[in-house]
Amino acid sequence: MSQTPVLELENLSVAYDTPKGPVRAVNHVNMKIYPEEIVGLVGESGSGKSTLAYAIMRLLKGSAFVQEGTIKVLGQDMYKMSPTELRAFRWAKISMVFQSAMSALNPVMTVEQQIIDTLTSHRKGITPPQARARAEELLDLVRIDRKYLKNYPHQLSGGMRQRVVIAIAIALEPAFVIMDEPTTALDVVVQRSILDQIQEIQRHIKFSVLFISHDFSLVAELAQRVAIMYAGRFVEVTPSQRLQEAGHHHPYTEGLLRAIPRLTADEVTIEGIPGNPPDLVTLPSGCAFHPRCPVATEECKIALPPIYDTPNGLIECHRFAGEKVVQHV
Ligand SMILES: Nc1ncnc2c1ncn2[C@@H]1O[C@H](COP(=O)(O)OP(=O)(O)OP(=O)(O)O)[C@@H](O)[C@H]1O
Ligand SMILES: [Mg+2]
Repeated sequence: MSQTPVLELENLSVAYDTPKGPVRAVNHVNMKIYPEEIVGLVGESGSGKSTLAYAIMRLLKGSAFVQEGTIKVLGQDMYKMSPTELRAFRWAKISMVFQSAMSALNPVMTVEQQIIDTLTSHRKGITPPQARARAEELLDLVRIDRKYLKNYPHQLSGGMRQRVVIAIAIALEPAFVIMDEPTTALDVVVQRSILDQIQEIQRHIKFSVLFISHDFSLVAELAQRVAIMYAGRFVEVTPSQRLQEAGHHHPYTEGLLRAIPRLTADEVTIEGIPGNPPDLVTLPSGCAFHPRCPVATEECKIALPPIYDTPNGLIECHRFAGEKVVQHV
């Protein structure tokens, strides 16, 4: 693809300063996302997904900082922008639906005020009637009755609040939207309808999405490509349709795929991945997944694998030695 990527991560590492020293929550991550693409990001709790999202938005909190690498959005380095440039850029070109979307809304402002605030803070020329009309249009887009514009967040159901948060994220028609677990707190039926809607709106407005979730089956359905994160690293980036090829992925990906509940006859089978994600302060030597890996060899305990370009995607695993190396450690 020759288009400018909407997102370009180069060798990105993000760390938290802790009393025990810097803890690397994002570890040498590379990724390009192209216009109109939906890319999924999966990984167990604590693997670094939200840290990565906040780093991209340049909204890292507390002791977190970019340790190494670059983040470009629409060709522009997020960390070289002045505060004024960043304010104009964020929400207009790149926006985010936060993991804690339930609390992302201001409880003392009506839905309409919150949408209008976003619009007027970026579009200086917009008149109040234009902003109101746009707020109505946005509610239509996320399928909420316009009468709710005059309501406060607490008067809305969880699903409706989530739709409002999505409406605000797309209010300025950004080119790129990060969605961090946008439906996790909702029941399955509401989750399904919101996902259908995200797809519909995305087809309509044509923005790119980085869709973060624990739910591998959901991500595989929604995204064209999926990045699998383990202990801060992208251990695999694979086209979703290749996920059917069992036995040809990173052993962690295979484990996540096996952990998807399957209905067989009249029972549900779930196979988990034994063990727990590692403590980032004391990462295992070599490949961080080796203590939990069913096919680990001596080499895995010693050396971090390079990234191999395999028929099923980019995979950081010694099992694929022989394939072309795209990135040395
Ligand atoms: N405030 C903090 N101080 C120190 N370390 C932190 C802090 N927040 C997160 N971390 C570290 O960063 C790692 C990644 O956290 P992050 O929230 O990015 O994970 P996540 O993949 O989004 O998890 P979840 O699926 O639970 O949302 C954690 O495992 C933890 O070690
Ligand atoms: Mg998170």
